[in-house]
Amino acid sequence: MDNRLAYVNNRFIQVDEPIVSLEERGLQFGDGVYEVIRIYRGTPFTLNEHLNRLAQSAASILLAMPKTTEEIGTLIREGIERAGIAEGTVYVQITRGTAPRNHAFPDGVEPNLYIIWKEGAPSLDRQRAEGVAVCTYPDERWHNCYIKSICLLPNVIAKEKAKQKGGHEAILIRENEVKEGAATNLFIVKDGVFKTPIADQSILNGITRQKVLSLLRLKQIPVVETRLTMEDIEVADEVMITSTTQEVIPVTRIDEQVVGTGKPGPHFAKLLQWFHEEVKRECSLQTKW
Ligand code: PDD
Repeated sequence: MDNRLAYVNNRFIQVDEPIVSLEERGLQFGDGVYEVIRIYRGTPFTLNEHLNRLAQSAASILLAMPKTTEEIGTLIREGIERAGIAEGTVYVQITRGTAPRNHAFPDGVEPNLYIIWKEGAPSLDRQRAEGVAVCTYPDERWHNCYIKSICLLPNVIAKEKAKQKGGHEAILIRENEVKEGAATNLFIVKDGVFKTPIADQSILNGITRQKVLSLLRLKQIPVVETRLTMEDIEVADEVMITSTTQEVIPVTRIDEQVVGTGKPGPHFAKLLQWFHEEVKRECSLQTKW
């Protein structure tokens, strides 16, 4: 039995309670959007940024939010308190609702809101100490990767193929440009300058990516958003990936090639320290419940 806390439409439930209809549009069409938010010390980190992106993703697929971002934020905090979570994550998903299968949007159907709270976060100590290997893979996704859509099949396949080759993450390449990971954004450092792909429609503008950019700018570290190719990656001094669940992870091998010295570098170490200072600043040392 899995008694983790979840929320569906207007009530709190246990995550394993059978509630989803076979004609849920998320299930049949992947017709929905989502967010993953990290909880530190009982506080959801960068909650407003995630909720704003959720609203933008919903608007981009012409989906009306079933509740305001403020209401969803209040529910998220209530769930953290009910479940007594200090360290963990929250998954939020909104789909176009439940209706007899038909590609066109159903009339008069309410969207479905799902929230799942998860206690605990995997240790990243080994990955931070040793760095990770990643594998490049052609980016087979659609043209609107800026939307955090639940249609993740190309991401899932790329990540699995990387895993089968012993890689920690798949790095997606489109028209000769390095874009992002299957579930992470990418930064490189060359001669003291941080570089990351431009957040146009071809990547997800990660909340962690945006936080890293603002921290680097605050610390007056040179950083550019630019086109990146495999040639840039090959001569980089350091490479790292970022996401809500992985924070910042150093990449020490890409396919067969060693990155820089083959060990996590000083820019990574400094950035991770600044990131953790920011988490501490935003998520007060005391749990909120
Ligand atoms: N993934 N790029 C993609 C394709 C992603 O799916 C994610 C997040 C990111 C990083 O975004 P953020 O910093 O906002 O987490 C970049 C989440 C964590 C997931 O699907 O589990």
